[in-house]
Amino acid sequence: MKVVVSLAELWEVRRFLNSPVGLVPTMGYLHEGHLSLVRAARQECACVVVSIFVNPTQFSPTEDLSTYPRDLERDLDLLEKEGVDLVWTPTKEIMYPADFQSWVLVEEVTKPLEGAMRPGHFKGVTTVVAKLLNAVQPQKAFFGQKDAQQSVVIRQMVKDLNYPVEVKICPTVREPDNLAMSSRNAYLQPAERQAATVLSRALFAAREAYQNGERNANRLRKTMQAVFNQEPLARVQYISCADPNTLQELDLIEDHALLSVAVFIGKTRLIDNILLP
Ligand code: PAF
Repeated sequence: MKVVVSLAELWEVRRFLNSPVGLVPTMGYLHEGHLSLVRAARQECACVVVSIFVNPTQFSPTEDLSTYPRDLERDLDLLEKEGVDLVWTPTKEIMYPADFQSWVLVEEVTKPLEGAMRPGHFKGVTTVVAKLLNAVQPQKAFFGQKDAQQSVVIRQMVKDLNYPVEVKICPTVREPDNLAMSSRNAYLQPAERQAATVLSRALFAAREAYQNGERNANRLRKTMQAVFNQEPLARVQYISCADPNTLQELDLIEDHALLSVAVFIGKTRLIDNILLP
């Protein structure tokens, strides 16, 4: 497994990788969710590239950039065991030199949900993903369904800007008690860690109602709210039942729906979602 930092080194190694090349973009502090993306890439691609970069432009000034968990040595160990060919760990200076001034903006699907709660977040995500795709030039790129809106936004960007890459979205990986895996779970104190199961419990309660025939979106939102009301450590930011492509809120589920939630458990902000049916 080669590990490179500069763009020149990346391009030097990239020239000799067999196609199709699969890229798994990450911010490090890898867990089973990331490794499931690496395994999917390993299955589908001749060569696998993983990028590790905690992208400062997708954090607002009040968010957790400085405390975001990092452990490069452990990450490299895990990736080596997965048979990854190349790891790119660019620095902030490489990705955003002092005279940096070009941004990628996706307009509509970035407005609701995470976009409404985290202004500027998706401008940072689309810009860094565009840069990663341009630098690595993969045939396939792998992202997790856990960040549902990010997946929609990246698909839109790839389509709008004619990136010659296939975007692959892999299922959310959950802990045995169904908490969706996230690097931010590391922030949770023991009592909060227990309380954090409320996200999947709320989503699964709504799914059960849906499976029992409920199609009224507001009643599904209320079903989720009722589960959150039982958890004193949870502070809900949004509860959504939206069209999975446009992310517009639904009145009635006629076809598919994306149920998604954003919730503070103590100081830690967690998100989760499921697709219906
Ligand atoms: O999902 C993430 O970890 C990040 O948003 C990504 C796609 C690596 C861009 O920084």
